[in-house]
Amino acid sequence: MNLRQTLAGAAIASDVPMLEKWPDAMKTRYGDLGKVVLSAQGIKREDKEGRDKYFMNMVSAFDAPCLILACISRDNLVEYQMLDIGLIAQTICLAAHDKGLGTCLLASTARFPAEIRKIAAIPDDKKIVVGIALGYPDLSVPLNNFERNRVKLDEFVHWME
Ligand SMILES: Cc1cc2nc3c(=O)[nH]c(=O)nc-3n(C[C@H](O)[C@H](O)[C@H](O)COP(=O)(O)O)c2cc1C
Repeated sequence: MNLRQTLAGAAIASDVPMLEKWPDAMKTRYGDLGKVVLSAQGIKREDKEGRDKYFMNMVSAFDAPCLILACISRDNLVEYQMLDIGLIAQTICLAAHDKGLGTCLLASTARFPAEIRKIAAIPDDKKIVVGIALGYPDLSVPLNNFERNRVKLDEFVHWME
């Protein structure tokens, strides 16, 4: 059974708490990015079917040939240990890029831990934190080409003299 079939209709959950209610500033950016991502694919806001299809596409890792799941032992799970996951995840992305591969960090692929366990042999003592889709990027796909609006450095860095 493939990922898309396994996840269809499954309830959203996660092994580790995720931010469900975004602070206002982030919510605005998140919403703006969502609009850009949808319009890059020609999906209109009111097109629920199109948005649902895109969501399924995302949670099934955009059909990437490989999904790496970063997990952490339940015993080690204090907030500080998330640094380890962040570090290894970014190192995987950078190392993949160095080899001409593309990656996409996907929290959404960790939203169905029970279903993922049916496919991948992840022991119960490990929590699934994040998925990393891996493959050779197809740059002709609009989703791999949209323009990003980045926050200016001064908006999130506090400089001290
Ligand atoms: C921890 C984490 C989880 C993410 N989860 C998702 C996700 O579920 N869906 C998504 O479309 N993007 C998600 N992203 C964002 C993409 O991975 C994003 O493309 C990536 O951070 C690089 O962005 P850039 O290509 O604009 O630099 C996530 C990013 C991070 C850091």
